[in-house]
Amino acid sequence: METKAISNALTLIPYGFYAVTSRDGEDRNVMVLNWLSQVSFEPQHIVIGLQNSSYTMNLIRKSGKFVVNIFDKDDANVVKQFTKSREKNPDKFGTANYTDGPVTSVPVLDEAAAYLEVEVEEIFDTGSGHSAVIGKVVGGGEAKEIKVQETLTMPDLGWSYAG
Ligand SMILES: Cc1cc2nc3c(=O)[nH]c(=O)nc-3n(C[C@H](O)[C@H](O)[C@H](O)COP(=O)(O)O)c2cc1C
Repeated sequence: METKAISNALTLIPYGFYAVTSRDGEDRNVMVLNWLSQVSFEPQHIVIGLQNSSYTMNLIRKSGKFVVNIFDKDDANVVKQFTKSREKNPDKFGTANYTDGPVTSVPVLDEAAAYLEVEVEEIFDTGSGHSAVIGKVVGGGEAKEIKVQETLTMPDLGWSYAG
């Protein structure tokens, strides 16, 4: 199979579009992310594909925890405002409305429809600039009663971060 064909095939995976929050002490951050999957049932684990150079990775390495914020399609603009890196937009988290999570104390965004609190168990560096961060889901909740068809996804935005 050709490299281009592989890239094209990878772009056909319909990801969700999430905001990942992190915290070390009083330093809090938020980033947008689509590389996420559940990988086990009992206990429940998820994996995220995370850029090594991101500010988020720095905070996650220090604290060993993060939160996945899941949104309703109607709230796309809430997530979009966090697209730039902390480096390019140092005040990014300043615009976030949040409450610290009850289990991990990592921020949960007020507009999120649902959230997952995660404790990191393994970080596998792929050698490509991104790592697979595997964590156990230790908390979570729903603020809005939405169906999966209403969850904000990459296809909704017509954006791609794959290939
Ligand atoms: C649509 C979209 C999807 C993205 N998905 C991911 C992703 O799954 N994993 C990742 O590491 N970065 C992803 N990024 C890039 C990060 O959001 C970007 O590196 C971010 O600036 C990191 O923020 P931070 O440095 O404040 O942590 C995505 C960016 C966009 C615009």
